[in-house]
Amino acid sequence: MRFDLLTLFPDLFESYLQQSLLKKALDRNLVEIQRWNFRDWATDKHQSVDDKPYGGGPGMLIRCEPVFDCVEFVQRQAPQPGRLIMLTPAGRTLDQRLVESLACEPRLLLLCGRYEGFDERIRLGLAPLEISIGDYITNGGEVPAMVLIETLIRLVPGVLGDETSSRYESFAESGRLEYPQYTRPREYHGMSVPGVLLNGNHVEIARWREAASLERTRERRGGDSASPTAPRTLSGLVPPPPGGPSESGDGSRVANPG
Ligand SMILES: C[S@@+](CC[C@H](N)C(=O)[O-])C[C@H]1O[C@@H](n2cnc3c(N)ncnc32)[C@H](O)[C@@H]1O
Repeated sequence: MRFDLLTLFPDLFESYLQQSLLKKALDRNLVEIQRWNFRDWATDKHQSVDDKPYGGGPGMLIRCEPVFDCVEFVQRQAPQPGRLIMLTPAGRTLDQRLVESLACEPRLLLLCGRYEGFDERIRLGLAPLEISIGDYITNGGEVPAMVLIETLIRLVPGVLGDETSSRYESFAESGRLEYPQYTRPREYHGMSVPGVLLNGNHVEIARWREAASLERTRERRGGDSASPTAPRTLSGLVPPPPGGPSESGDGSRVANPG
């Protein structure tokens, strides 16, 4: 999957591209990211890309010319022009369903705004898919673009070590929130790991997780847990442990009763 980031601050991505899962995905050519600066398409001697809004008001707007020219150039840099996305608070709010549909795209161009945003004719003329990361305002579109990249690369085959992990997370196929999870130690500050997770009975563990997931979703998101986005069973939630034995909460191995 290829991302082209169109921004006034390409260096903001510097450290982000060099860490963790994304770095590994880039190194393994599972993901490609190119950065472009609108300023390189400015035509005046000051390389200006913004101007005051007509009608007055605070702040500056990103002008049409450098954005249109930059997009046109970037689209020509690969066999397919790619899907154009504008990060904007006025866009469709990002959720896992939208992430899943975008994960099928081989190439995305992400338009990151700054200042008071873009001249409206950029939206009208380029007709991008407009995406918001939530009802609040960030200083620019770079962090929202990172959020989009973070969500999408998890669905690129091979990026996650364990391919099942994105399937069983909150908002995945079940539409539910994930069940609570625990690791060692068994006791911490008077809080204990639920006994069922220590008994090695994977049928009971799956039942407990299903119930906990339903309860958490009902409690925090409300609604009917048997709605179309929430299938009635999560029986596939807990894959059988490889080879039978599983690890108990204290680190000792416990036989899987089947
Ligand atoms: C300070 S914001 C401009 C906000 C704009 N004046 C408004 O009131 O809608 C600058 C840029 O940050 C990005 N941005 C801010 N909040 C965002 C959000 N919730 N989702 C996506 N992008 C956002 C957009 O690219 C936007 O053009």
